[in-house]
Amino acid sequence: MSSRNILITGGAGFIGSHVVRRFVDRYPDYHIINMDKLTYAGNLANLKDIEDRPNYTFVKADICDFETVCRLFSEYSIDGVIHLAAESHVDRSIVDPFSFARTNVMGTLSLLQAARQAWEPSGWKMAHGAGTEPVECRFYHISTDEVYGALELTCPEGKPSEISAHEVYGDDFFTEETKYQPHSPYSASKASSDHFVRAFHDTYGMPVIVTNCSNNYGPYQFPEKLIPLFINNIRHRKPLPVYGKGENVRDWLYVEDHANAIDLIFHKGQVARTYNIGGFNEWKNIDIVKLLVRTVDRLLGREDGEDMSLITYVADRKGHDMRYAIDSSRLKSELGWEPSLQFEEGLEKTVKWYLDNQDWLDSVTSGEYQKYYESMYSDRK
Ligand code: NAD
Ligand code: TYD
Repeated sequence: MSSRNILITGGAGFIGSHVVRRFVDRYPDYHIINMDKLTYAGNLANLKDIEDRPNYTFVKADICDFETVCRLFSEYSIDGVIHLAAESHVDRSIVDPFSFARTNVMGTLSLLQAARQAWEPSGWKMAHGAGTEPVECRFYHISTDEVYGALELTCPEGKPSEISAHEVYGDDFFTEETKYQPHSPYSASKASSDHFVRAFHDTYGMPVIVTNCSNNYGPYQFPEKLIPLFINNIRHRKPLPVYGKGENVRDWLYVEDHANAIDLIFHKGQVARTYNIGGFNEWKNIDIVKLLVRTVDRLLGREDGEDMSLITYVADRKGHDMRYAIDSSRLKSELGWEPSLQFEEGLEKTVKWYLDNQDWLDSVTSGEYQKYYESMYSDRK
């Protein structure tokens, strides 16, 4: 019998697949149930290496399907949830906000309500067999720093940080106390789901944790997000559509460092507490794009910077947030977490992975996706 039965939602997507792999590998006595609808962003090829493990089960289902979610809780005696399933791309949310409200808000509510029905009667504890200690249930919701809105770019050239020796582009950071001020339909839907999760704690006493993480990068990210999209475009010598002036700043974290933080927080985090997760690693988009061109060109044996001319400035994203920068010192001081990789090292590893896995890139960018991509970018110039 498993010592824990954990439902991970969105496990065939980018971050979720890293979290599922980590839990299946590290905790052979847990049963990991990966529930995913397999939208355009979900892909079972992301978990090919662990699909036959005895402690792993995949269930294709929609988190909004309340009856199915309730059935899974009872069928697998779920005692923990790590909730990552979501619509996650800002540009898509601008075109189709309804899908974001449906999945991110109603889907989260459906999971919360199912967890409550399963756990509340037994005092938020779950026993797995006679004579065993009941396990404390836990609902862990994965959210984004984008709920906090946007910070100002007050130091356009960057300056040495007081927190560590990286470049920073402004005087303030998102902390766990920063007021929610989402701007995009994506971040508004995530903010709403965060509020529902906290409301289930405050109203019913559900043991919840929320984390808000900065931009992730690494293997298996769908190539509509900046880094994999641009690697793929450089590879095919297609234009690199930089929004606005490329001055916007994001704080980047290697995906396995996020998965490591999720593991630590799921096991050691304090109930009803929020943790920000970030790399103390701010970059302007245009600087990342130039670094990507250099790295891809070098690894493909092209002349240094040969493909810089692919950089194409296009119309800005509507409501484009200027700067995100996370202060993750609570996570460091309370749980001892720190990112393990320097950005240049992580980016090199990432570019190599995409170039070594061009079949994966080709398979996820064929068919329907091509039409979407062309329609998204045709009117941007
Ligand atoms: P992703 O788009 O790569 O994957 C999302 C997964 O959710 C896919 O496998 C998809 O099939 C699944 N899904 C979507 N709708 C579903 C539904 N209705 N029912 C069941 N499954 C469904 O996303 P990601 O980048 O891996 O992000 C995962 C989570 O982390 C999201 O909640 C996102 O908001 C959050 N997050 C992402 C980042 C980032 O930089 N990517 C940063 C911070 C937080
Ligand atoms: P993205 O990867 O979509 O993540 P997010 O919007 O969640 O931060 O975008 C990262 C940054 O790159 C963001 O400032 C928008 C910008 N960007 C471009 O300039 N061109 C593109 O084609 C994409 C997808 C993003």
